[in-house]
Amino acid sequence: MKDIPVGFTAGRVIKRIEWAQHLFSLVVEVPANAYPSPAFIAGQFSKLALVNGQGEWVRRAYSMVNNPTLKKQNLILEFLVIEIPQGQLTPLLAHLQAGNTIYVGTQPSGFMTVDEIPDSAIDLWMLSTGTGIGPFLSILEEVEQCQKFEHLVLVHAVRTKEELVYKDKIIEMMKTYQGKLRYVPIVSREVEQGALQGRIPELLKSEQLSAAAHVTLTPEHSFFYLCGNPNMVHDTRDTLESMGYQKHLRSESGQFSFENYW
Ligand SMILES: Cc1cc2nc3c(=O)[nH]c(=O)nc-3n(C[C@H](O)[C@H](O)[C@H](O)COP(=O)(O)OP(=O)(O)OC[C@H]3O[C@@H](n4cnc5c(N)ncnc54)[C@H](O)[C@@H]3O)c2cc1C
Ligand SMILES: NC(=O)c1ccc[n+]([C@@H]2O[C@H](COP(=O)([O-])OP(=O)(O)OC[C@H]3O[C@@H](n4cnc5c(N)ncnc54)[C@H](OP(=O)(O)O)[C@@H]3O)[C@@H](O)[C@H]2O)c1
Repeated sequence: MKDIPVGFTAGRVIKRIEWAQHLFSLVVEVPANAYPSPAFIAGQFSKLALVNGQGEWVRRAYSMVNNPTLKKQNLILEFLVIEIPQGQLTPLLAHLQAGNTIYVGTQPSGFMTVDEIPDSAIDLWMLSTGTGIGPFLSILEEVEQCQKFEHLVLVHAVRTKEELVYKDKIIEMMKTYQGKLRYVPIVSREVEQGALQGRIPELLKSEQLSAAAHVTLTPEHSFFYLCGNPNMVHDTRDTLESMGYQKHLRSESGQFSFENYW
């Protein structure tokens, strides 16, 4: 066996969840002492690595879907993955089952966290496509921290209804948040009752998103995190700018920030 790369630890898959063909979650346990305390901030990502058929390490970034959870001496990390058939790592991840070894980065990072949001934000809009919903589910698990927002709007855009993952968890969270959390599913390539159809930028502009969430958009109150498909991020940025919102920088407060998945 090759040496584990610096900055990685050996973990074990303890559960696999099948959502749809090519779409699955892996629950992984890693030794907690390989991580700082807290191990990560909700919304951050780590890395997963495996050795490919040529004996080379392949490593890629994956967001945690959960918040830092300890089980005895172990840290539990959950990842939502879509298999890219021509990709290097995801076809290897797609073969993993409970009991298999996976190598996990020990230095989680990323700035799409609640503490990066300016204090002026009253409503937090979390706009995601595909597996980009992951970091938002992690953030929403930090219930106490999220109570400071008046509304939390979770928008999840997918191609087909079977890709609307973690519905049961979202329903539980909606109960916990007692009306504060609004969930707006979007299915772009099928008609699905209770979901919008189309794409995030157009649905924002036409005010269908705000109508579905029953939350008013204003540059004074709204803050947006965008996550997932870089084309969605690009088009949504353009739309938000045309609506009078600005990119948030630490040096200059704005109303949106984003994470591209590829
Ligand atoms: C900060 C960050 C967090 C991420 N979190 C997640 C996550 O939680 N879950 C997850 O599934 N992925 C996530 N990704 C994407 C992940 O890192 C890999 O890029 C992805 O899994 C593909 O890896 P691969 O080795 O199979 O494909 P590669 O061999 O790297 O890529 C093959 C081709 O597919 C394109 N591609 C990469 N990802 C996608 C995608 N999702 N959809 C369409 N085309 C794509 C690439 O541009 C490339 O041209 C994240 C990426 C970043 C930067
Ligand atoms: N989803 C699948 O069935 C499937 C199956 C096997 C493999 N894969 C692999 O997984 C990759 C990622 O899949 P994914 O389902 O997460 O794909 P995706 O192409 O990122 O689609 C997710 C959602 O983002 C929307 N979207 C795409 N471009 C957009 C833009 N410019 N602006 C706003 N919204 C936009 C899509 O709408 P539109 O539908 O209008 O494009 C869809 O609703 C695929 O590229 C493929 O390689 C996917």
